Amino acid sequence: MNQDELKQAVAKAAFEYVESRLEKDMILGIGTGSTANLFIAELAKIKNDLEGTVASSEESARRLKELGIPVLDSNAAGELEIYVDGADETNEYLQLIKGGGAALTREKIIAATAREFVCIADESKWVKILGTFPLPVEVIPMARSHVARQIVKLGGDPVWREGCVTDNGNHILDVHHLQIMEPRKLESELNQIVGVVTNGLFAERAADRLFLGTSSGVEEILPRDS
Ligand code: 5RP
Repeated sequence: MNQDELKQAVAKAAFEYVESRLEKDMILGIGTGSTANLFIAELAKIKNDLEGTVASSEESARRLKELGIPVLDSNAAGELEIYVDGADETNEYLQLIKGGGAALTREKIIAATAREFVCIADESKWVKILGTFPLPVEVIPMARSHVARQIVKLGGDPVWREGCVTDNGNHILDVHHLQIMEPRKLESELNQIVGVVTNGLFAERAADRLFLGTSSGVEEILPRDS
């Protein structure tokens, strides 16, 4: 199977999982990116059985609405049952790097409000040590250079994602050349820098379940005990 087929397979597996957990008034968190888009397409099959969704980006909200799936305001939705989203990297603890699609802040908010975070990814995202994929950091525009200098002091190599403005009106720095041995520590250190909105490490709130698309089929993986 090629990468697109693996993404389709995990989207379907996550849909079947959600369907098996379906209950009255269920509200789902919905991620952003090509794998999440395939999940959104599957979700249309049960659109009349859902109370609604909360979307992690304007783009996902647009896609959901186009399919007739209700999109709710996060503040009105309260706690979510399940959040389904892709990732740029995952380790065996299901700690993630996210934000390749610049939606990391809303994704982190949804992850925080969800009882269960289901990650869907093809096997290219599975890594031993996080950091080969450049770590996205969302910054307030006027703080971009300041944040970049502080990140250099932490050993990173920040590159401004020029032309990218997040749904929150902010900028993204992609931090290259990291070998993230202590994801929780780095997540916290980056968030301490003045001007950082949040960073794409999902270590403090990792995923609870992973559907990983591999050449031998979809594996359902729970986080290894840390
Ligand atoms: C968006 C994300 C995505 O989940 C991540 O970039 C993976 O995307 P794709 O499913 O297209 O590989 O974090 O901000």
